[in-house]
Amino acid sequence: MSHAILKALGLSDVNSGTYLGRGEWSSASAGRITPKNPTTNEVIATVEATTAADYETVIARAQEVFKIWRTTPAPRRGEAIRLCGEALRRNKDALGSLVALEMGKSKPEGDGEVQEMIDIADFAVGQSRMMYGYTMHSERPGHRMYDQYHPLGLVGIISAFNFPVAVWSWNSFLAAVCGDICIWKPSNKVPLSAIAAMKVCNEALREGGFPDLFFLINDVDHSLAETLVDDRRVGLISFTGSTRVGRRVNERVAHRMGRCLLELGGNNAIILDETADLKLAVPGIVFGAVGTAGQRCTTTRRLIVHESIYDNVLATLVKAYRQVETKIGDPTDPANLMGPLNSPEAVDEFLAAIEKAKASGGTVETGGTRIDRPGNFVLPAIVTGLKNADEIVQHETFAPILYVMKFKTLDEAIDMQNGVPQGLSSSIFTTNLKSAERFLSAAGSDCGIANVNIGTSGAEIGGAFGGEKDTGGGRESGSDAWKVYMRRQTNTINYSDSLPLAQGIKFDL
Ligand code: UN1
Repeated sequence: MSHAILKALGLSDVNSGTYLGRGEWSSASAGRITPKNPTTNEVIATVEATTAADYETVIARAQEVFKIWRTTPAPRRGEAIRLCGEALRRNKDALGSLVALEMGKSKPEGDGEVQEMIDIADFAVGQSRMMYGYTMHSERPGHRMYDQYHPLGLVGIISAFNFPVAVWSWNSFLAAVCGDICIWKPSNKVPLSAIAAMKVCNEALREGGFPDLFFLINDVDHSLAETLVDDRRVGLISFTGSTRVGRRVNERVAHRMGRCLLELGGNNAIILDETADLKLAVPGIVFGAVGTAGQRCTTTRRLIVHESIYDNVLATLVKAYRQVETKIGDPTDPANLMGPLNSPEAVDEFLAAIEKAKASGGTVETGGTRIDRPGNFVLPAIVTGLKNADEIVQHETFAPILYVMKFKTLDEAIDMQNGVPQGLSSSIFTTNLKSAERFLSAAGSDCGIANVNIGTSGAEIGGAFGGEKDTGGGRESGSDAWKVYMRRQTNTINYSDSLPLAQGIKFDL
């Protein structure tokens, strides 16, 4: 019997994982993917993986559609995404529940993820009328120069398990208004959420008389993902995942001179200075560290606290964690604040990190153990007594472990915050204007995201999202991130009766 949540979204016990376009889902299979409910570790439903032949059909059809879509006026492309946003509004509850069921994040966070899809749809609709380029003043008389942004072509989106649907929409909705056609390879831990999101959006497009803008492939192992990465027909690969895999993707795409958008690991810190307002800071830290069970790229992994308030902050946090512990459970129950980790392997990695932290001289102040019940549940941990330079602190363990450390001067705190290989998100809680501005200055945080009196996670879609160093340097979602989905062209037009050369060069025949 299919789960009621699946039925509500038109999914069944066995699902095709390949959308071929034209309303067709493939009947071929390269093997079965069996996503498990992390609350019980039972298989939710099965997904038939994409064959190499179907991959070729997908690419061929995507190329065909691109020829129509690239010349469709951009505001008309925006209308297609407006319909997707409307359909997502109607399906928010069901899709949010499926994300909670399959990924394991809490129901409010699952709904929040669908809200991010709706928000980026609205953003993309507006963007479709605002793909501005500069006009430049030519140095030559009777000449005009300007920038144009043209569609890039096919965009491959490889997404991670922790945001099964939102990250796809950040990429695909912007890419669609930019005139591109997307091929999505979701994580094979969460293929059902991907199929459901595709169904919702594709039906909206078909009903609105639009062509297929979104294709889906599901990989039984990594072979199709590798084919996609190496495929010269795919102009941009947007990859979200670990730094280790992202580095390989980057090298391979660079080899074929393709374009890459990387959103990789974070090792995000919050600084609390001696003037911090703890009423704001404590909920910000706890949500940042235990929200999504520590499985966001933006999860707060390090807390850097002024020595004068350290004892008080630590005691307050331990109390807050005890409250969270009473609300860990089935994520589809909206009363729970924290669900399980996504897989048994993630539990092993969590426990191994705790052991390593202890072996390095760390003290586990609370949590750090598996919960004795079915599924992948753990108690979120606070660890003290380690140095920022310790290997385990430098490493992103994708689980709820918060390393708390002391500082004396703001310079020292900023050095610690920046002293890791990753550079995604960062924040300071302070009521001192000078400290806030220093943190945001060129000599402050080196991250792609730097916040004041807000935690590290839960970024709004309107800003550019991504980070520096091992985080990969990509920016997606808001601001001018749309430009990565387009190719830029500089046009110079001579409307005079002579041909003056630039730089004043004389070339008289
Ligand atoms: C991610 O973890 O890959 O800022 C994305 C946040 C969310 C997105 C996280 N808006 O936490």
